[in-house]
Amino acid sequence: MSLTIKNLTPRIATEIQADKGTLLGGAHAAQIREQLEQRGVLVFPKIHFTDDEQIAFTQTLGTFAPEMRGEKIYKVTLDTKVNQLADYLKGSLYWHIDGTMNAVPILASLLSSRVLAPSGGDTDFCNTYAAYDDLPDEDKRQIEKLRVMHSAWNTLFYYEPEPSIDTLRGMMAIGDRELPLVWTHRSGRKSLVIGATARHVVDMDFKKSVELLVRLRDWATQPQFVYRHKWSVGDLVIWDNTGTMHRATPYDPNSGRLLHRTKLEGEEAFA
Ligand SMILES: [Fe+2]
Repeated sequence: MSLTIKNLTPRIATEIQADKGTLLGGAHAAQIREQLEQRGVLVFPKIHFTDDEQIAFTQTLGTFAPEMRGEKIYKVTLDTKVNQLADYLKGSLYWHIDGTMNAVPILASLLSSRVLAPSGGDTDFCNTYAAYDDLPDEDKRQIEKLRVMHSAWNTLFYYEPEPSIDTLRGMMAIGDRELPLVWTHRSGRKSLVIGATARHVVDMDFKKSVELLVRLRDWATQPQFVYRHKWSVGDLVIWDNTGTMHRATPYDPNSGRLLHRTKLEGEEAFA
C-alpha cells in the first residue's frame, strides 16, 4: 500500500494516511523522512499504535534514542503521580526546541495521544526554516553571525518567577550552551535557533538582546508558520526538532492528559 499525503497548511504540517502494516514495514521510511524535513510536522490520524508498535515505527525512521535511564517510552503528563519530574514539563507550555543543552539535539520526537484533557492541551508547532526564509534580507544580514547562550534555567522563570535558590541551582546544574542564532544545516537550508532556553545574544547589550530574541520569536510564531494539533485519542504526531519549535497549550494538570513519546537520535550538530 502507498501513503496518502495531504498538506495541512501551506508552510507547515502534512497528514499521512496509511495502515499500520504499511508504516511498520518500513518500505516508506525514506519518503516519510523526506516529508518530515520538508514539512516539519507529520500527523498520522488515529493510527492507535501500541507502545511496541510506536517503538518499532520509530526504529524504521532512524536511530532510536532511549530516555536517560534507558526507558523507551516517556510519559508526557503534568501529573506528578505519573511522572515525578512533571514540574519540569511546565516549561513545555512555552515555545522551545528540545535538546539545546546538547551539541547534537534530537532529530525528532514522536508523540501519541492516550488520554485527552477535556479542554486545552493542544500542541503548537512553528516552522523555523520558513520563518528564517521569510525574514527581510536586512535582518538576515544582521543576525547571520550572532551567537546565543541557551540555558535550561531560563525556562524556570517562565513558570516559577520566584524560585527557591535550591530550585534555581538544580536547573542551573543542567547546563548552558552557546549556539548559533542561525543554523546552517548540512542540506544548506537555514533555520532559527530560538525559544525559551535562549537567554541572551552573546556580546550584545542585554536590553537589545532581549528585544531581538522576542522579536524573532514573535516573527517565527506568526500564524502562517504555525500548525496547531488538536488531539484525538490514537493520533501520532512526529516533528522535526531541528526545524521547528513546539509548545503545549495550557491544560488542567489533574485532567489525566497523557501522551507517550519516543525519540530519534540527532544526526547533525548545531552549526
Ligand atoms: Fe519539548
